[in-house]
Amino acid sequence: MANYQLQRGTYDAYYEDALNIEKIVSILKRISKSYGYAPIHTPMYEQTALFARSAGETSDIVTKEMFNFLDKSGRDICLRPELTAGVMRAIVTNKLYATKDLPLKLSYYGSAFRYERPQAGRYRQFNQFGIENVGATSYLNDAETIIFGYNSLRILGFPHIILKINSIGDEESRNAYRTALKEFFQNKIENMCPDCKRRFETNPLRILDCKVKEDQEIIKGAPKMSDYLNEQSKEYLNNILKVLDEQGVEYEIDDTLVRGLDYYSHVVFEYHFITENGTSLGAVGAGGHYDNLLREVGGPQLSSVGLAFGVERLNLLLKEINPEEYAKVELDAYLICLGKENLDKVFSLCTTLRNNGFNVDMSFENKSMGASFKIATRKNAKFALIIGENEIANNIVKLKDLNTQEQCDVSLENLVEVLDEKLVD
Ligand code: HAM
Repeated sequence: MANYQLQRGTYDAYYEDALNIEKIVSILKRISKSYGYAPIHTPMYEQTALFARSAGETSDIVTKEMFNFLDKSGRDICLRPELTAGVMRAIVTNKLYATKDLPLKLSYYGSAFRYERPQAGRYRQFNQFGIENVGATSYLNDAETIIFGYNSLRILGFPHIILKINSIGDEESRNAYRTALKEFFQNKIENMCPDCKRRFETNPLRILDCKVKEDQEIIKGAPKMSDYLNEQSKEYLNNILKVLDEQGVEYEIDDTLVRGLDYYSHVVFEYHFITENGTSLGAVGAGGHYDNLLREVGGPQLSSVGLAFGVERLNLLLKEINPEEYAKVELDAYLICLGKENLDKVFSLCTTLRNNGFNVDMSFENKSMGASFKIATRKNAKFALIIGENEIANNIVKLKDLNTQEQCDVSLENLVEVLDEKLVD
């Protein structure tokens, strides 16, 4: 017999886990709607060149983590490592910048793929929920995006959030900072990791993101971006921070935050959380401002800001923070049919209840009362509805509350009403 393995870095979600992921996504969809976002769906794969261009030739995502391959016609295809670039491509392909009001406010949910080394909360296929605000004309767009992320996490059930913010400034500020970093690392780079050596040549800002312990010690002494921000960049950041202060959003400025994608300018941010047991899965969400991405993929220059949450990380942390609130697979009622000859009638009642919006189920096998109650309990049914010869003859069902064990007869005529009332209690 073949033995098919789950692919490295992938996972199966089922029952409670799958349900809770769906719950998280539906909450995020609802919140994004309340901020005026409309959904956009884009393909899971695009031309490799799109991601190489947008994420940045020097980013880890492009140099190490691309899930790319040649299709049967020899096209270089890549499973998307993130959704932002595909959304930009779609805006250009469909000329949304010319046909819809600016800023475009787009939300999305879907899988992303990165060939990373798997670990807790890090997968090769994972899901992101994100928003993009394209055609932003004010720091308020940035503030709104950061607040959307912060408030969403609170609504999802995070008791507090570590929000890290930094500004990587405009082009001029970044160039000045790059020069300063080059000078600083010039005589240290020899002793740093091979990745940093490469980053030194291609994009010294990336060095700040190095996870190697010894390198981090050296990085601690590096010049700070904040000292190289020009007046405009400083003012832009301060305007955003002022709004966050006014809105009671707590944050910390993290000078080392540069993000793993190359398209950002000005403000960048990440949301983190550490549980009471010390579980921390890295950022649960992240984003930033970007000025040139749309132009780089063939559209007009429109300043933008966006963020994406890692849905698996949200799920893992929420499960640990608040298991009580975790979504449960459950039923309003489980129908128990006594006597094989009554199955059709009970099935018909089951359908009527479903058509009235109840979550109900039954077995089509003739099971004993005891076995049926066990199933009802395992399925987390709130009520059991018992129907046998006697009940059918009298047009009633026996309704048993599986929590209190109280039982009563209910006429078929009143069943929908009675169930409705009892489920509200
Ligand atoms: P990112 O920081 O690369 O940003 O990813 C966003 C979030 O996706 C992370 O904070 C993390 O929660 C989750 N994530 C990333 N990689 C993995 C992985 N291998 N396994 C599980 N979760 C992961 C972006 O992707 C940008 N597109 C965000 C953005 C939108 N910036 C502007 N607009």
